[in-house]
Amino acid sequence: MPPILPFTGPWLLAPMEGVTEPSFRDLVLELHSPRVLGGAFTEFVRVVSQPLPARSLRQALGPRRHGAPVGLQLMGADPAALAETARRAVEAGAPLVDLNFGCPSRGALRGCAGSALLEDPASLEQIVRVCVDALGNVPVTAKIRAGGEDDARLEELARAAQAGGASLLTLHCRTRAEGYGDCADWRRIARTVAAVSIPVCGNGGVERHEDLEKMRAETGCHLVMVGRAALSDPWVFSGQQVSRATSARFLLDYAERLRTEGGASDGQALARVKQLLRSWRAGSLVDAQRERWLRERDPARMFAWLREQSTGPTTPPRTGSEAYTPAERTRSHA
Ligand SMILES: Cc1cc2nc3c(=O)[nH]c(=O)nc-3n(C[C@H](O)[C@H](O)[C@H](O)COP(=O)(O)O)c2cc1C
Repeated sequence: MPPILPFTGPWLLAPMEGVTEPSFRDLVLELHSPRVLGGAFTEFVRVVSQPLPARSLRQALGPRRHGAPVGLQLMGADPAALAETARRAVEAGAPLVDLNFGCPSRGALRGCAGSALLEDPASLEQIVRVCVDALGNVPVTAKIRAGGEDDARLEELARAAQAGGASLLTLHCRTRAEGYGDCADWRRIARTVAAVSIPVCGNGGVERHEDLEKMRAETGCHLVMVGRAALSDPWVFSGQQVSRATSARFLLDYAERLRTEGGASDGQALARVKQLLRSWRAGSLVDAQRERWLRERDPARMFAWLREQSTGPTTPPRTGSEAYTPAERTRSHA
């Protein structure tokens, strides 16, 4: 029997380096019922030639556990080091381990990791297999792009991940050459669904809440993963339109957690908040004043402005079928 996937709902928050560290990720998970936002991932954790210590893995997982699982994502090219790190990740509390075969960065390519493995389906399969063998009942999932230069080997790559024993395959439907461009060809997701019998998670080009169901309907994928749209509007998973005050409160809470739990300075917290403000849409908080706040260098002024904005009417959490209980939302990690 293949391991059972722990996802609790159909939509997943994508792994995003520099963004989905515990502070941001936890806040997004806490906004949603696990029946809606069914899981999330850490930023990728790079494994070179030695297995990583448990401390780094615990740090990536963060201090909280949620109703929805957070998968720990590893990226590397050394099968033995990856397998041992995956085993340690589970010991550190990871409910699943995801393998990154999509990162286009020069560092990844130099190390023959991430999207470099899209040129080498046999090595991709081997890496999945050694991790699957190391984890037993805990699922290993794989995240690929549609290819390197083009999508000609998409089916071959998908079957390699399946043959290695992946429990789920996420397809970011752009090739490495397409980077993060506007094109997001969902037909590639449908091709992947047709090529394998394991569940497929579609990813790429979701811009708003309505796109989630649309991608599932058009491609037949089982789950949908959202990256950048969740950075503009963390409520994209439920489609809830929040007030300006609720939107500002999120950014304040984010800055606060970065400082108190992530050890960030005021300046670092300001930089992270500005990173989100570049595309932030929630609550129409910055529409007219975006450039002005992106230029702000004084953390005190930024946070005072956000506090001022956060005093208006707040948006209550959803009720009815999407309601959630505090216990469902977060369990403190002892
Ligand atoms: C800032 C940023 C960091 C990312 N970091 C990772 C990562 O650590 N691991 C990974 O598999 N993908 C990473 N990605 C890719 C996303 O997970 C996702 O596949 C991609 O953004 C496409 O989805 P979207 O069109 O919904 O944004 C990153 C993307 C962005 C924008």
